[in-house]
Parts: sequence; structure tokens; C-alpha cells
Amino acid sequence: MTSTLVTDIRELVTNDPSLGDGSALGLLHDAAFVYDDNAVLWVGSADSAPDADERLDASGCAVIPGFVDSHAHLIFAGDRSAEFVSRMTGERATTGDESTGYSAHGIQFTVQSTREATDEDLRRNAARLVAEMARQGITTFEIKSGYGLTVGDEVRSLQIASEFTGETTFLGAHVVPHGSDPTAYVELVCGPMLAACAPYARWIDVFCDQGAFDADQARAIVEAGVNAGLQPRLHANQLGPGPGVQVAVEVGAASADHCTYLSPADVDALANSSTVATLLPGSEFSTRSPYPDARRLLEAGAAVALATDCNPGSSFTTSMPLCIALAVREMHMTPAEALWSATAGGAQALRRTDIGVLSVGARPDFAVLDAPTFVHLAYRPGVPLIKGPFGRQV
Ligand code: NIG
Ligand code: FE
Repeated sequence: MTSTLVTDIRELVTNDPSLGDGSALGLLHDAAFVYDDNAVLWVGSADSAPDADERLDASGCAVIPGFVDSHAHLIFAGDRSAEFVSRMTGERATTGDESTGYSAHGIQFTVQSTREATDEDLRRNAARLVAEMARQGITTFEIKSGYGLTVGDEVRSLQIASEFTGETTFLGAHVVPHGSDPTAYVELVCGPMLAACAPYARWIDVFCDQGAFDADQARAIVEAGVNAGLQPRLHANQLGPGPGVQVAVEVGAASADHCTYLSPADVDALANSSTVATLLPGSEFSTRSPYPDARRLLEAGAAVALATDCNPGSSFTTSMPLCIALAVREMHMTPAEALWSATAGGAQALRRTDIGVLSVGARPDFAVLDAPTFVHLAYRPGVPLIKGPFGRQV
């Protein structure tokens, strides 16, 4: 196996506090590291770097762990740019958040297009988005189903998702499809749909929000998923205050995602649990919603992740650097907190310890920035700074 020495790194973010400056980012200056196909083998000062078979010169740039995108909906067909235009020009939603014009309603449009698409259409669209993610430094990503909402369409969504990542999530409980009775649909999701999908999924997710599923339905679906061997994560409190976060904590979910509308009790529950608060500022940006209160979560001691939520309705971006810039500018996270959340935070939201970190034994997934420091990810918004993600994608 070939080993590679990455050298002349002006600033290396390891996310290992025992390395470097003692901060959460574990920053090393004038650093180097060695990796092979499987793992990081050595990390330290460029002066004392061992030899390796090959050499990658970082030319005085910053190097960071590859971004971990723990929340994305990449299996879909169709375009909702017209919905985006209506929202931006002030049309009001009929359900959901009437102040922003975004609701769960648009999901039905994508469901129809997805059902009409061929497997090859879905695969090609996902591959294009995965390639975009790679160009923006994402080395691990999660993919949800949720635009099929029949047994066959959910299964094929997860089969195709599994071709791209091991982090696949069954989201049959995205919305109740048009024409279905809610009680009968929940029974379908918990029964035959789950049985057919579970072999292709690691996670179970429920959209517990206005216009989607209530707390009792969410509990029932999660319980069925856990019995089928899946681990829970929840869409919670995106469109308004509600029970989603409390249900997520109660069921021991790895993550409660969105957290846009939180009560003090929700913040306390997250801070006193192992459930990560995954914030998705691309969706607030594209739906012109208020941003989640990241400072309140961080100050209470909750673990915070950032993810793209890439989907055709609420957040059609694959750019983690954009999410970092929004987190800093709009959510008052420091650049260091935002970078940690987009790497180690995402790893924690996927309950992974082998990614989001560059220390000995970790996966060799990293990105070289065309910048002297990671701060430029927020300081230079909209500028492509990723020179190349390295490592494998899972
Ligand atoms: O995470 N909230 C639910 N699902 C997606 C939106 C899906 C859509 O609008 O198509 C989200 O924002
Ligand atoms: Fe989502």
C-alpha cells in the first residue's frame, strides 16, 4: 500500500484537542501528516515528518478534515425553481409557515416527479450532486429516501442511495402522500414498507412537524424502525414549535435536525442528551426563515452539527462552505465552531469516530484549502477554496 506525506501545511485542523493548541480544533501550524489508503498514520510538525512513498505539497495552505454532511436528500427528480421564485416574491403557503411561504406541501410535487423517473434518471441526478459535494470538500454524506412514498419507490430510492453511501436513511415518513389516509399510511410505513427498506438503510427518520407527522406517529414509526435494526434521527421543529425535539431526545436519536424553533425546554433537553442538534442554515436561507439560535444551544452545552440538507425544495445547495458562512454571519457561530460542526459535529450526528478528525487511525479524508487559514471559509463567502478533497467517500 502506498503511503503519502502531506507537507508544508501552514495550518492543520485535526479536531483532536490532544494535538496542537489544545482547542477543540486541535490546530497545528507548519504541520505534516502521513496517510495510506485506509488511515492516517502519523501527524506532527513538518520538521520531524517521517519519509513516505509519495509527497503532496500543501504549499503553505490550510488543511482540514473532509466535511461530513449528515443530512441530504439526493434521490429525487424534477425542479422546483418556480416554487422558489414564488416564495422569494412573497407568495404565501397554504399550510406550514405562512410567514415564509415554505410548507411541507411542495414535497408532493417532487414525489410525483420521482415516481415518474427511471432508476437511471435518479442515479444520474444523485451522481451529479455527489460530484458537486466532492468538489466542495464533502467526503462523507448521508442520503435519505422520502420522495417515493410507495413500497417500491422507497426501496429503489434506498437501493440507489446505497450505491453512493453506507449512511442511508429510510424516510418513508416524510409526508403522507396525496390520496392516502394518515393512519393507514403510518401502518404501511411501520409494516411492509419498513420491512422492504430496512435491508438498505442504516437510519430511520421522521418529519415530525406541522403538515407532516405528529409526536405519536413519530414515536410509533421510530419504534418500528428500531425493532427492524435501524437507528433513529428526526426532522424536528423546522416549521414551528412542536414536539419533534422532545421525541428525538426521548428515543435517543443520534440527531434532531433543523431545530429552527426551540423552546427553552428543547434546548435543555438537547444539552442534557447525546442527541446532536443538526442545524441546516441552507434551508433558512432558501425559505427566508429565521435562523436557529445556535448560540443558545452552544452556550447550554449541546453538540451542534451543520449539514447542507440538499433537497430540491427547501435547500438546493451542496455547499458546506456556504453553510459555514451562513452559520458565522447569520447564526453568530465563530468560524472555529462552524468548522467543527461541519466536520466533527457531522461525524457525531452519524455516530462515527473514524471521520471528521485527522489523528492517527482516522480515515484519511481531508481537504486542502486555497487559503492560509480555515477562517477564509467564512471570510471569503462564495469563493471556491477547496483545492481537492482526498480520501474515499462513504
Ligand atoms: O429537510 N423538512 C422536510 N424535508 C426537507 C424539505 C423537503 C422538500 O421541500 O422537498 C427539509 O427541509
Ligand atoms: Fe431534510
